[in-house]
Amino acid sequence: MNRKNFYMQSAIDLAAKGKYTAPPNPNVGCVIVENSKIISKAYHQRAGKEHAEILALKNLKKKVNDKMIMYINLEPCCHYGKTAPCTKTLINSGIKNIEIAMLDPNPKVRGKGVKELRKNGIKVNVGSCKIEAVKINKDFITKHEKNRPYIIIKQAVSLDSKITSPNKKWISNKFSREDGHYLRAQSCAILVSSKTIINDNPKLNVRLTKKKLSIKSNIRHPIIVILDSNLTVDITRFKVFKTKTKKIIFNSIKTSFDKKNNIDFIKVVSNKNGLSIQSITKILSRDYDVKNLLIEPGKKLLSSFLDKNIFDEIIFYKSSSNVGDGGLETIDIEKMHLNTKKIYQDSVTNMLNDVKITYKPKR
Ligand SMILES: NC(=O)c1ccc[n+]([C@@H]2O[C@H](COP(=O)([O-])OP(=O)(O)OC[C@H]3O[C@@H](n4cnc5c(N)ncnc54)[C@H](OP(=O)(O)O)[C@@H]3O)[C@@H](O)[C@H]2O)c1
Repeated sequence: MNRKNFYMQSAIDLAAKGKYTAPPNPNVGCVIVENSKIISKAYHQRAGKEHAEILALKNLKKKVNDKMIMYINLEPCCHYGKTAPCTKTLINSGIKNIEIAMLDPNPKVRGKGVKELRKNGIKVNVGSCKIEAVKINKDFITKHEKNRPYIIIKQAVSLDSKITSPNKKWISNKFSREDGHYLRAQSCAILVSSKTIINDNPKLNVRLTKKKLSIKSNIRHPIIVILDSNLTVDITRFKVFKTKTKKIIFNSIKTSFDKKNNIDFIKVVSNKNGLSIQSITKILSRDYDVKNLLIEPGKKLLSSFLDKNIFDEIIFYKSSSNVGDGGLETIDIEKMHLNTKKIYQDSVTNMLNDVKITYKPKR
């Protein structure tokens, strides 16, 4: 790895530290290098808090000089959001060399940040470690390019393809379930059906410690999204309604905002297959700033997302034991994989006696 890539990779590694706290903002890290040494570094921790490049300048123990080079994995912003534009601070700081891994996909920025820096005499180079930089912000990029969140669908499946069991509470083992909580921790929102709320009464929160997530700030629980066409779910009965977390109930009856219980009821169009998942994913991205969505579906919901090809990853935690008689069978994803070539198997990981299989769509 050449030196330039080494410093940029350091910025990307720092950016990754914000994975559980920065959403819905992108993951951004920054290092400042002088005479081949990293002399300051920072990453963006939380929406509304300082951006990585501003914090790296703050952490700098000496005055900026012409020999310093700043490495950032994402183009600095040039618009007023929750914070002031970073480009202004960078121009005023006196920094003369900036390396950027990739342009910001947000149309409010895309290339304009770089243009402004160059116009003000800063030498800007774009493109080192672009592949790694794209990977770390794949959700932020999806949000801006597809007007929907990056979607991970997760199911726990028995050896005989059942997703419910008449005798057992859990299909997958505790390692798989903990892995699922890491997925929840990095997600802006988690989506389930009315059926799951009624049958399982789940909490849908993140049950990991700050230590496990290597974070100091409070754990960010994902927004809870429920598809309930006819508003059959009783909001006084189930565990999810006992939490302060925002809830959104997509339905075909009404749009209204229950401030007291922090529930938004959003009406969307529906057809014989149910509510429009295109509309739902668009609304979550546009109105709720959801950059990544975890879906924990039963059989029907999984089919809908697969049929419409609206997903980025499907994760099956496959157990080594059968459920046997009773229990709901999920769709045969392997058959789809082999026959329709719609998806491919991306990875297989051992989770003690379970296996985690990740499928991705063929684009
Ligand atoms: N093993 C696992 O990982 C796992 C994960 C989640 C759930 N589950 C189990 O799965 C069971 C439910 O499975 P399921 O197949 O009956 O239900 P599902 O796939 O979870 O949800 C289907 C329901 O979602 C609503 N819906 C609204 N729009 C839809 C659309 N466009 N496409 C599909 N559904 C839409 C409909 O209910 P409305 O008419 O009320 O809107 C529909 O009946 C639960 O008992 C739960 O225990 C297992």
